[in-house]
Amino acid sequence: MNLKHRTVVITGASGGIGRALALRCAEDGVNMVIHYSGRNVDSKRRADALLKKVRSIAMAKGSNSKVAAFPCDLTSRKQVSSFAEQVFDEFGSVDGLALLHGYSSAGLWKKHSGDYTEAEEESIWRTDVMGSKYCIFEFAPLIIKTVQGVRSQGVPVAGSVVLISSTPALGSIPEDRDGRSIGEAFSAAKTAIISVMRHAVVDYKPHVRVNIVAPGNVETGWALDLSEKEKRSAAEETPLGRWIKPEEAASVVAFLLSSDASAVNNQIIVVDGGYVTGR
Ligand SMILES: NC(=O)c1ccc[n+]([C@@H]2O[C@H](COP(=O)([O-])OP(=O)(O)OC[C@H]3O[C@@H](n4cnc5c(N)ncnc54)[C@H](OP(=O)(O)O)[C@@H]3O)[C@@H](O)[C@H]2O)c1
Repeated sequence: MNLKHRTVVITGASGGIGRALALRCAEDGVNMVIHYSGRNVDSKRRADALLKKVRSIAMAKGSNSKVAAFPCDLTSRKQVSSFAEQVFDEFGSVDGLALLHGYSSAGLWKKHSGDYTEAEEESIWRTDVMGSKYCIFEFAPLIIKTVQGVRSQGVPVAGSVVLISSTPALGSIPEDRDGRSIGEAFSAAKTAIISVMRHAVVDYKPHVRVNIVAPGNVETGWALDLSEKEKRSAAEETPLGRWIKPEEAASVVAFLLSSDASAVNNQIIVVDGGYVTGR
């Protein structure tokens, strides 16, 4: 991956896919910001453990990459603004932004449309949609500042933002055993992410590429909420016959962040083992 010595901000690095991306970036000598929400002790504990692991990988590789962990509640524009300012003060550059945060709470994925409480609807929307927008509003100008220096030397580089959506946003709506749709509040938020990408592509051209990764069933924390039977049937619905590993979603994010994807812009890349088209 052509990201060595670049600076990448990973939101939701204390979560499953974000952690996998951080470990991948550590192997590749990337300067990295490990973001976590800081909303409870466990969030900080996971971020601290990851920071330690990333540093030990860098040391074993003899890499002098810079890594730091930052807490931020991404639902607050004010907090995101100060987060971005602190990152730029400390790192002096931002080349890539991987937006891998997202609201999650036990049982929410199985709810029927109209059954979400107002607080649940708001938490999903404010975290997944508004949190992603606030990060783009605050970090994209810093990415532009970073790449403009290189572009002035005649190299047509662009920074990269990667957003996360989900297969229901592409029309593959999950159903329960009675044929009722489930997870509507998440699908609505993940569909809005597509619009967030389209606008950002226009607003930050030609300095920033913006793309989406849309995973299917990735084996992270939320899967603990499912019974063995539910897990088995989710695997069986996928042409590959299995769940996606966090590393498999993270490697596509890493590709989009890197200059290997230098002409990829305004795209949604589905990482679902063929689920969307295979149903
Ligand atoms: N796993 C899947 O099957 C799947 C499929 C499709 C799409 N996705 C999407 O992919 C993304 C990552 O999924 P995942 O499974 O890795 O999720 P995860 O393990 O639940 O991690 C979610 C991350 O979001 C952070 N977060 C939550 N609320 C936040 C807030 N208010 N401010 C800042 N950070 C906040 C969490 O921080 P703390 O832990 O520090 O609180 C955590 O790092 C999510 O957007 C998810 O919806 C996942």
